[in-house]
Amino acid sequence: MVFLFFSRGYLVFKLSYTSKTTSSKEQLLIDLRNILSEARNFNVLHDVTGVLYFADGTFFQYLEGEKDDLFILKEKLEKDLRHTELQFFEMQEIEVRKFSDWAMKYVSKQSMIQQYLLSCNVLGFHPEQLSQQQVNELVDLLVFIEDHAA
Ligand SMILES: Cc1cc2nc3c(=O)[nH]c(=O)nc-3n(C[C@H](O)[C@H](O)[C@H](O)COP(=O)(O)O)c2cc1C
Repeated sequence: MVFLFFSRGYLVFKLSYTSKTTSSKEQLLIDLRNILSEARNFNVLHDVTGVLYFADGTFFQYLEGEKDDLFILKEKLEKDLRHTELQFFEMQEIEVRKFSDWAMKYVSKQSMIQQYLLSCNVLGFHPEQLSQQQVNELVDLLVFIEDHAA
């Protein structure tokens, strides 16, 4: 454990949440572009990595980074009027990052994710209804999608 701490320099945590967009249809693409640009600027500077998935008016974001940076980001997200109804899952320490190459990977609606949610008896994209274990599986699916992107 001591070796791991020193070899990595600091402990890495993961934080996931879901929220609903407040953007109109017309504004959505512009807002998404701005969100990703802001996200990548901050995340590169603070060594935060992760993925943002968007489907059916709902965001699911998975973030990895140092605890203090994730808390700063959480505060920013809570103040951001471009989304609402934020529901965070528990912050947990991780050994290895899943999106180490991505300051913020963006994934739009995928049939594989819809099928996974159906298998969890969740109709539509409602990650807030998932257990922590199911959220972990959702993130692994997003990793799979990223690995198999053309
Ligand atoms: C769905 C969603 C995801 C976001 N993801 C990030 C992110 O990963 N990193 C980030 O810095 N900002 C992200 N933002 C933007 C922040 O909420 C915030 O607007 C931005 O960091 C600028 O904050 P500031 O005005 O306090 O500097 C996201 C916003 C939304 C709506």
